[in-house]
Amino acid sequence: MPDPRKTFFITTPIYYVNDVPHVGHAYTTIAADAVARYKRLDGYRVFFLTGTDEHGQKVHQAAQKTGVGPQQHVDALHQRFKDLWKRFEISNDDFIRTTEERHKSVVRDILQRLYDQGEIYKASYEGWYCLPDERFWTEKDLVNGNCPECGRAVDKIQEHNYFFKMGQYRDWLSGHIRQNENFIQPASRRNEVLGFLNKPLEDLCISRPRERLPWGIPLPFDDNYVTYVWFDALINYVSVHGPLEEIRRCGFWPCDHHLVGKDILTTHAVYWSTMLKATGLELPKSIFAHGWWTVNGQKMSKSQRNVVEPNLLVDRFGADAIRYFLLREVPFGQDGDFSREALIGRINSDLANNLGNLLNRALNMLDKYYAGVVPAPNGQLPEDARLLDKASETARETHALFDHLGFNKILIKIWELVDAANVYINDMAPWNLFKTEEGKARLATVMYNSAEAIRTIAILIHPFMPETAAKIFRQLGIGESVESHGLESVRKWGGIQPGTKTAPGPQLFPRIEEEQAKKIMDTVQNASQAGTESAPAAQKQEEKLEQVSIEDFFKIDLRTGKIVEAEKVKKSKKLVKLKVDIGSEVRQVVAGIAESYEPERLVGRTIVLVANLKPATLMGIESQGMVLAASDNGKIVLAGFDEEVKPGVRVK
Ligand code: MSP
Repeated sequence: MPDPRKTFFITTPIYYVNDVPHVGHAYTTIAADAVARYKRLDGYRVFFLTGTDEHGQKVHQAAQKTGVGPQQHVDALHQRFKDLWKRFEISNDDFIRTTEERHKSVVRDILQRLYDQGEIYKASYEGWYCLPDERFWTEKDLVNGNCPECGRAVDKIQEHNYFFKMGQYRDWLSGHIRQNENFIQPASRRNEVLGFLNKPLEDLCISRPRERLPWGIPLPFDDNYVTYVWFDALINYVSVHGPLEEIRRCGFWPCDHHLVGKDILTTHAVYWSTMLKATGLELPKSIFAHGWWTVNGQKMSKSQRNVVEPNLLVDRFGADAIRYFLLREVPFGQDGDFSREALIGRINSDLANNLGNLLNRALNMLDKYYAGVVPAPNGQLPEDARLLDKASETARETHALFDHLGFNKILIKIWELVDAANVYINDMAPWNLFKTEEGKARLATVMYNSAEAIRTIAILIHPFMPETAAKIFRQLGIGESVESHGLESVRKWGGIQPGTKTAPGPQLFPRIEEEQAKKIMDTVQNASQAGTESAPAAQKQEEKLEQVSIEDFFKIDLRTGKIVEAEKVKKSKKLVKLKVDIGSEVRQVVAGIAESYEPERLVGRTIVLVANLKPATLMGIESQGMVLAASDNGKIVLAGFDEEVKPGVRVK
C-alpha cells in the first residue's frame, strides 16, 4: 500500500501534434516512466503526467496541409501518441490535451488573474519572429540575421500585443536558481540558464492577433487575440489538477520533476518559473534537461530521411529492449547517437547473454536438481555473503542514483549484480555439488541464492523493463505483480519462498544476428521515409499475401501432434530434431526453435504439424513435416491448444 504522505509528481513535455511521434519523444516519456515506476515500487503515491500540445502556429499549419480542420487534425494525431505510449508500457496517470475544456478554463483563469493584478499589459511591438519556434527576438538576439535558437530565417513583424511582465523577475529567478542546487539539472544546464539571466530579461509577448492565428485560446480580456502557445501549454502542469483552488488540495504540488529536452529548457526555467511566481504558485523542485538523440551522427529530421519510427522498433525488438537501450546507452543529460551497432550490441550482450543466460541456466539447474522447486537454503557461507552483499549494495546505490536520474549508472550497477550472479553460479559449480551427498546440502543454498538473486534483479529492472520483469517473475513462479513485492523486499535477502514451483518459459531475448539486424533496421528507417505512414500499417503491407480459396486452404493437412522425443541437432544453433506422434505414425521433424525452447521442455507438448509437406533434408536429417510457430522479433512461440487434444486430429 502506498504511504499517503509520500507523493510524487513527474511530467514530460506535452508534445506538439504537428507530426507523428518519433524516438526522441519516446525517450523523455520512457525516462519519466522509469522514475514513476521506481517511486511506486518505493511506496509513493505517484502522479505521472504526459499529453499533447494542440494549439499554435505549427499545429495550425500542419492541419492546413492535411486539409482537415485543426480540431479534426489534433483529434486524430494525439491518438498516435496515446497508442505509442501503450506499446511502450508507459504508466502515465493522466494524459492532458490543451484543447480540453478542463485545461482551457484554467488558462483563462490564470490570464485573467494576472491581467487584474497588472502583470499583463498591451503595447505596440516590433520585432523578429521565428515561425517554426514561435518566438519573438530582438535585433541583438539574432545570429547572422537568423533565429539564435534554430538558425532559420526570421520575419520582421509589427503589431499590438499583450505582454507578461517577465523582465522584473530576473534577479529573483537568478537567486532562486543559485539557492536551489537541484532546481535546474544537470549542473551544466544550470550554468547555461544563469548565463542567460546575466543579460537583461525582456517581457514576454503572450498573445497572437486572431487574424494571423485563429487556432488558440482567446484571451479572456480581449478576444481579438489568442494566447501564445507556450503560455497556454506550460499551464498544463497546473490545469491537470482541476480549478486553481484545487492545487493545494491535490497533494501533488509542487512538481517533483519536469523532464524536458535541452531544446526547451529556457521556456521551462524562465517562462514557467516566472509565470508560477506571478500566479503565486510554488516552483517545481527540479527541471531536468536531457540531451538530444541523433541517428548515425546526424540530427533526426524528415528531410534527412532518418527519423527512427518507434512503432516499428517495438514491433521488431520489443518495447523493453528499446527502453533499456535508450536509458543505458548514454548518461541522461548528454547527447546520444542511435545506431544499429549500438542497439544490437546491447541486446546481444547485456540482454541475451548476461541477463537471459542467467535466468535460463538457473531455471534449468533448478529443474534438473530439484524438479523445478526452489529448495530451502542450508545456512550461508562467506562465499555466499559476497553475492548477498552485492545485492544489498546494488539496492542502496541505485536508490541514491535515482535522485539525480542517473539511469545509465543505475543500469550499470544492476548489470554488475547480474554478472555477480553469473560468476557465483560458475564458482559454486552446482553440477559438481550434485555429485556428492555433502555437495547436495550445499547445492540447496546455492540454488536458493541464485533464484533470490534473480528475483532481486527482476524488481530492480522493473522500472526500466516492466514486461521482462513480469516474465521473470512468471518463470520464477512468483506471480506477475512486481510492484506488490516492492523495494523493501530487495533490501533484505529471502523474499522467494522455498517450495516455490518455477515455470521456465522461452528465452527472454534471443540473440539477433548481424544480417537479421541489418534487414530490421532498414525497414525501421525506410518506413519513416514514408512520412506519417503509421508503422502498424506499414507492417501489414509487408505481410499482405494474395487471397486463397477454402479449397486451397484444405490442401494443407494440419494435424495435432505430440512431441515424444526432442534433441538438439549437433553443430546447429537453431535446429532441434523431434519425434512427433500424429496418431497414425511417429514422424521425424527438424524445427528451427532451439534458440527459444530447450529440448527437454518440448517433450509432451501438443503442437500443430503441417503433415503433408514434401520431406526436406536439413543438416543431413530428413524432416517429415513442419511445426507451426509465430516468430516475433526473432522470438519463436509454438502454436498450441488451451485444452488437451489427442494426436492426429485435423486442424482447420
Ligand atoms: N510542445 C512543446 C513542449 C511544451 S511543454 C509545456 C514541444 N513539443 S515537441 O513535440 O517539439 O517535443 C519536444 C520534446 O520532445 C523535447 O523537449 C524532448 O523532450 C523530445 N525530443 C524531441 N526530439 C528529440 C530528440 N531528437 N532527442 C531527444 N529528445 C527529443 O517542444
